[in-house]
Amino acid sequence: MTTSPDTRPTLSARLKQETAAQHERMHTLMEAADPFASREGYARFVAAQYLFQRDVEHLFADPAVRAAVPDLDGRGRADASQADLADLGWEAPVAEIASTGVAMPEALGWLYVSEGSTLGAAFLFKAAKETLGLSAEFGARNLAAYPEGRATAWRNFVAALDSDALPPGTHDAVIAGANAAYDRFGQLLADMFETA
Ligand code: HEM
Repeated sequence: MTTSPDTRPTLSARLKQETAAQHERMHTLMEAADPFASREGYARFVAAQYLFQRDVEHLFADPAVRAAVPDLDGRGRADASQADLADLGWEAPVAEIASTGVAMPEALGWLYVSEGSTLGAAFLFKAAKETLGLSAEFGARNLAAYPEGRATAWRNFVAALDSDALPPGTHDAVIAGANAAYDRFGQLLADMFETA
């Protein structure tokens, strides 16, 4: 008996395609927020980043998430965001964790949004350095590349997304998780910049 090849799109391809409108919305929100117009505005962005990263890192404790993403340690930027806020003379904001109750496979969608945002962060990092005089040691740690480099960290994450360990039947739930994570970040930006 012959089996036909599996021509279904990979999970990473589906995520990129099916959340493209959400990513576009982030651009629109960031343009409206204009976080590089001043250090004060930038600190509002970092406050949103801090709360989002706490939501994401909350998921790291789940053994099922750790099994799905073997190199989880070292990912996440909550501590970096908190240190940046301190550099800027801001207290870390206090809020409930928004990802309580989120589990696999949705959790992987939250991680996708966080890890993917490290790619766009290359542009934001440049702006933070050039416009606001910040650096990977002061104020812009949360936008700096992981030690292994953005491309390598992303490639390894995509390999985890597209692993056979995640059957196609789980993919819709991962995409739902990504949409929830984008919604959360969008809400945090709206709250921090009072543009809701
Ligand atoms: C103005 C702000 C932003 C810019 C300029 C930007 C830019 C980019 C760029 C250039 C890429 C790489 C695209 C590619 O290689 O094909 C990317 C990917 C991505 N960004 Fe953004 N981004 C921004 C904000 C955000 C935010 C706020 C989030 C989420 C909180 C986000 C999530 C993602 C994700 C998940 C990907 C991976 C897409 C994929 O290949 O599946 N981005 N972004």
